[in-house]
Amino acid sequence: MSPHTYEEIQQLLQTNRQLETPFLILDGQLLRANARRFRAAFPNGQVCFAVKANNDPRVLQIFHEEGLHFDVASWGEIQTLANLGVPASNMVFSAPTKLPRDIARAYKFGIHRFAFDTRIELDKLASLAPGSNVIGRVTVDNDGSHWPLERKFGIEPGQELDLFLYANQLGLNPYGLTFHVGSQNKDPHAWVRALERLHPIWLALEENGIHLSIINTGGGFPAHFNEPVPEMEEIAAAILPALERLFGQKAGLIVEPGRGLVGDAGIMAATVINRARRGDSDWLYLDVGAFHGLIEGMDFFGFQYPVISERQGEPLVPFVLSGPTCDSADVIHHQAMLPSGIGYGDRVYVLTAGAYSNSLEKYNGMGFPKTIVTGID
Ligand SMILES: Cc1ncc(COP(=O)(O)O)c(C=O)c1O
Repeated sequence: MSPHTYEEIQQLLQTNRQLETPFLILDGQLLRANARRFRAAFPNGQVCFAVKANNDPRVLQIFHEEGLHFDVASWGEIQTLANLGVPASNMVFSAPTKLPRDIARAYKFGIHRFAFDTRIELDKLASLAPGSNVIGRVTVDNDGSHWPLERKFGIEPGQELDLFLYANQLGLNPYGLTFHVGSQNKDPHAWVRALERLHPIWLALEENGIHLSIINTGGGFPAHFNEPVPEMEEIAAAILPALERLFGQKAGLIVEPGRGLVGDAGIMAATVINRARRGDSDWLYLDVGAFHGLIEGMDFFGFQYPVISERQGEPLVPFVLSGPTCDSADVIHHQAMLPSGIGYGDRVYVLTAGAYSNSLEKYNGMGFPKTIVTGID
């Protein structure tokens, strides 16, 4: 299912083979190709990469060169982009809940497009980013998605008009509607259903003199794990006619892919550091696990990374894959099919590891809180 053949993986590893594991390889050519495919699939849309999916400056540089814009979630992410020369006009602050200091810094930097989903967020924007363009996050069904987001975000259904009227009252500029169909969504019609849900909201706003300019269809584009998924072009072929049918020429389009741009490009190289038989399962212990980049393999997230090894000619049998930490939750796979003789010292490659892996080190551009130890002279 990975876009890389075994030979391509070998090629990507060629110059890095001697490196001590673990390490994450990101295929720059594939990143570039994906950026081009997204831009071609949405020729009149603004493709904004969701930086939270992978915040490595070299990845962001490639996307900047390829003409992508960016969805940011914090001042930390904005700073990383600013250091690469990305102008504020190429950024949209789509996190519905923002740190107040981040709003102020973003506004001062020149960002004038912000998402919201509550009155409080509108109050914050009115005082810290006066006159900004505001985009209302609407709840939509997340059917078809592996990682739904609908519970945490979105304007309470039925409150959309009230909130936009309130935004007007506060001197903010009602600018658009946005939604997220949930990460790793395999159903292109999820986006169509979401647009159909937006339509009556858009009409009600128009009837009340609120004329929006933008629809932001969020992320959700799937990467290739162990099952078939629609390609970005297929999803675009569902979104674009629905947008035209429901909104005609009135709505500009933003799309915010994260996983769909970077997931396939990542290969985590790891080494087996232990093997054990526990009950009726075979366990392999790797030198990398859930707490150092492969969090989405944990039961809670349930993503099934494709995993390969370089051993040839042995039958494939199921293994539980665990990370090196002393935490029992540090398990990233329950049924990785690997050669039966695999053991201590063998290399393992975890594929489709380019999204929400290295960015966890400073997730959403936010570092860890500082620690204060009291009672020390
Ligand atoms: C506002 C927003 N846009 C886009 C994305 C990217 O989503 P995905 O990686 O599923 O494409 C996210 C992910 O959380 C998000 O919160």
